[in-house]
Amino acid sequence: MTDHRVRRAVFPVAGLGTRFLPATKVMPKEMLTVVDKPLIHHAVEEAAAAGIEEFILVNGRGKSVLEDHFDRAFELDWALENRGKEEGLKRSRALVPPAGNVVSVRQQAPLGLGHAVWCARHAVGDEPFAVFLCDDLVLSDKPCIGELLEVHAETGGNVVAVEEVPRDQTNRYGILDIGDDDGRLVDVRGLVEKPDPADAPSNLSIIGRYILLPEIMDHLAKQEPKAGNEIQLTDAMAKMIGNAPFHGLRFSGRRFDCGSKLGFIQANIAFGLADAEIGPALDKFLNEDTAS
Ligand code: G1P
Repeated sequence: MTDHRVRRAVFPVAGLGTRFLPATKVMPKEMLTVVDKPLIHHAVEEAAAAGIEEFILVNGRGKSVLEDHFDRAFELDWALENRGKEEGLKRSRALVPPAGNVVSVRQQAPLGLGHAVWCARHAVGDEPFAVFLCDDLVLSDKPCIGELLEVHAETGGNVVAVEEVPRDQTNRYGILDIGDDDGRLVDVRGLVEKPDPADAPSNLSIIGRYILLPEIMDHLAKQEPKAGNEIQLTDAMAKMIGNAPFHGLRFSGRRFDCGSKLGFIQANIAFGLADAEIGPALDKFLNEDTAS
């Protein structure tokens, strides 16, 4: 039997985060927090909860704090220990993977998402792997990537998370051309990156969770940069259609676009409401305190 186990995940985090300036002037946008965890922490936590063991950051200059976040913080931990702050210590150590399981590679120039994934090729090796875009945060009982992994274990091939978007927003996303569709799982017949609404083959968009076969790296290697001097992941994925199964999964839960200010605030509210500690008080604030 083919081994469909996915052990590695790639996190492209080299972006400049210009939409959040001045917040992101010296701090990576992936360190912006939704409630009490940075976006990168939410993504790595989701991967770990689904059984992924190796985490590959595709990083850029001036953003090494992202690597530090997954290291031990000896001085902090020492101080917390001495003061008997056990809860704080638990939180500080919450997501420090075993030594060697967080790898960082550099994307020296901003040549697009496809290029970022290609930069991880040596760390990924010859196995299927996951890709997380930290901007997309999903609130659900089950890790979104775990749902994709279940599909991948059944069907093999490539699997992407998808959701319907308003027609007039197709030019913000990778869009599917749909074959068979059972309402949850969609057979992908084609893929187009950010088509104009008039040309879009559907309004079913890719969101930032992917399970990809290692062959994508060969396609990315051959790809010419397109408009904006960017190598698109979607174009390389489109080349794999027909050679292996390719499915879109309408995942459960709600996705927030934390790459936009509105989506980021909405994520903080939704995750805040779901938080056992602050949820009830936040709910009260939203329903009563802002009513007047
Ligand atoms: C990227 C992908 C796009 C996908 C989107 C999901 O676009 O290129 O196919 O639909 O993420 O968030 P970006 O948001 O980086 O422009």
